[in-house]
Amino acid sequence: MTLLTVWDENDASAPELQTRDAQVITDVLSTLGARFSRWPLRELTAEPTQDEVLAAYRDEIDAVNAAQGYTLVDVVSIVDDETPEYLEQAATARGKFLSEHQHDDDEDRFFARGSGVFYLRANGKVNAVFCEAGDVISVPANTTH
Ligand SMILES: [Fe+2]
Repeated sequence: MTLLTVWDENDASAPELQTRDAQVITDVLSTLGARFSRWPLRELTAEPTQDEVLAAYRDEIDAVNAAQGYTLVDVVSIVDDETPEYLEQAATARGKFLSEHQHDDDEDRFFARGSGVFYLRANGKVNAVFCEAGDVISVPANTTH
């Protein structure tokens, strides 16, 4: 279940807030300009291709693209199968995603499966959003994450 934890960016000794309440998560993230929502999960094959994932969620993706003017969609798939390929892929992903950064476009992520944590640092707070299948999080442009 989705979990939001908020700390003061200079004091990680104890969180200021920890909640699984989707409405509270939505409200807190909205103060950062971020959006949180959920999409209904669709049936996927055991090892779906990128095209199959995109096709399963085509209506939702098209709606977001139309509303936000997005033109780029990608699928990230990291499956822990304990193979050397996974270990290399995981190391590459960690190198890319663990470095705090900003960019001048939004970053929306939908979790079709699995889980992940987005850390957003803004307004003197660190907001960690543990996302699970069905969650959609939108990190607005120029937000440190
Ligand atoms: Fe990013």
